[in-house]
This record gives sequence, structure tokens and C-alpha cells, in this order.
Amino acid sequence: MEAALPAHLHDRLTEVRLAVTSALDRALEHLPPGDLTDAMRYGCVGGKRIRAFLVLESARLHGLDDDAAMPVAVAVEMLHAYSLIHDDLPSMDDDDLRRGMPTCHVQWSEATAILAGDALQSLAFEQLADPAIGSAEVRIELVRRFADAVGARGMVWGQMQDIAAETADAPLDLAAISALQQGKTGALIGFSATAGAVMAGADTAALGDYARSLGLAFQIADDILDIIGSEEATGKRVGKDAAAGKATFVSLLGLDGARKTAADMVRRAEAALEPYAAAARQEAAENLRQLARFVIHRQT
Ligand code: IPE
Ligand code: IPE
Ligand code: MG
Ligand code: MG
Ligand code: MG
Repeated sequence: MEAALPAHLHDRLTEVRLAVTSALDRALEHLPPGDLTDAMRYGCVGGKRIRAFLVLESARLHGLDDDAAMPVAVAVEMLHAYSLIHDDLPSMDDDDLRRGMPTCHVQWSEATAILAGDALQSLAFEQLADPAIGSAEVRIELVRRFADAVGARGMVWGQMQDIAAETADAPLDLAAISALQQGKTGALIGFSATAGAVMAGADTAALGDYARSLGLAFQIADDILDIIGSEEATGKRVGKDAAAGKATFVSLLGLDGARKTAADMVRRAEAALEPYAAAARQEAAENLRQLARFVIHRQT
């Protein structure tokens, strides 16, 4: 992730990563000691914290400080950690390496990993009740959107399509793959990037458009890294999607076609931020623009 990063984006991502990691540690304190809590903590170690970055920058874009947005950032990273723990399970992608470490079920046990994921999901929702975020109305709206993004209309739906496609008779077409990726990766990214607008009671349309394009670019980059990336850089096994018969933009369009689609998505993401051109907080808008450009060049 370090290589092609503009210095300012690098510094802000590092700042966010450190702050969110300490906030996650604090949110995981005071749980009953034992394997379940240890496995939950383990599942939250590492990661680029890109979803947290989207939460904090979208909040800054609306004049809200990191303290108010941090519980939301913690919620999305907990939810994301749960999704990765379950994604790696033997009955899902059957992976043994995540963020450069043994996957949760390898380190602990399959049952512990399932339960750690379950408990991280509940704890994620609990974060959204934090009064630091704002009024009760705002928190309820965040809960509603979060549930929509990560459940049977969003992430879990996408994961189901992803698994079902492995054994489908015919390859998915472009529309089906877009919908799949929009669910499995795009929905949580969408929640994260619009969270600041929701907190401020502002229109979420522009950030929603930004996130739809960014989410697709992000997942296409993930699929490309599965082919051309290294285990050292990504911290996970590579070459697994084709072996499992996953339906991705790369499986449909080839590497070059997928790269072109991702580049097109990045341009669309940048264009979607146009309504913020005159906003007071240009630094946050520029960070979001730079992140979009960066996601397709990342190595990790
Ligand atoms: C990996 O997400 C899973 C996908 C949805 C593509 P990230 O690449 O954001 O994973 P971490 O959090 O940095 O490990
Ligand atoms: C994971 O997608 C998406 C979710 C966890 C919701 P992938 O299966 O492509 O992610 P990696 O490649 O294992 O990180
Ligand atoms: Mg998967
Ligand atoms: Mg996987
Ligand atoms: Mg992948």
C-alpha cells in the first residue's frame, strides 16, 4: 500500500489507522476473558482501515470531527473483521492466511471463529448507540442503514451470490457480477462513505455515487491482486479465485478489461465528488479523490 501513495494521503491513512486501532482496542476491553474475546481481538488486528478512513473523511467533509465519527469507524471495521473471519472459513473461501497471519479458524478453531465473527457483528451495532455520534434520530438512521448494507440486501447477499456462482451452470454476465460485487464489497463501503452525510443530516446522493464506483474499483483491484499480487504484500493467499471458479470482472473481462473498468470507475468516483468542489473542507474532498485514484494501484 505504501508504494504509489501521495505523501499527504499516506500520512492521513497512517493517522487514521493508528487512531482507529486504539479505538478498536478500547472497544474490545472489558469483555469476558477467554478464547472468544481473544479471537475477536485477533480478527481486528491489521488491515488498511480504508472503511474507517471513508467514515472519518466523509464526517470531516461535513464539518464533523473524528471524535464524533470514531464509534462509526470502529463499527465498520468490526463488521468488516467479522466478514473476513467468516469469508475465510473452510465452508466459504477456505483460506489459511489473512493480514499476514494464520486465519482466525486456523489460529483458534472453526467454532471459535464463527462465534468471534458473530460477536463482532453484535458489538459493531452496539458502537452505533454511542451518544458521541449525535442525536438518537441520527443513530437510529445509522443503525437502519448499517443493517441494510451488511445483511440480506447487502454484504451477506453478495457473499451468497459469490459462493453460488462457483457452482453455477453458466458464467455470470456483467450486470450480475456488478450486482454481486456491489453487495459483497460495495454496500459496506457505501455505508462508510455516506456516514458523515447521515450524521450531518445532509444529502447522501453524491457520496453514494462516489462509493458505488469506488467499491467496484476496490473489489476489481482485489480480484486483480488475486492474480498478479504477492502473498507477502497482500498478506493473503493468491491465485485462489480462478481455482475456486469465482465470478469476478477478471474472469469475465480478462485482466486488461478489468483494469479498464476499474480505471473508468475511478474517474466516475472522482466526478461524483464534483458537488463538493465549493465545500469548505477541501482537504477531506481531496483525500477522498486521492483514495479513489489510489485503490487501483495498491499492492496490498
Ligand atoms: C478485503 O478488504 C476484502 C474485500 C472486501 C475485498 P480489504 O482489502 O479492505 O482488507 P483489509 O481490512 O485491509 O485487510
Ligand atoms: C470478501 O471478498 C468480501 C467480504 C468479506 C464480504 P474476497 O473473498 O474476495 O476477499 P479476500 O480476497 O478473501 O480478502
Ligand atoms: Mg470471498
Ligand atoms: Mg476470500
Ligand atoms: Mg479477493
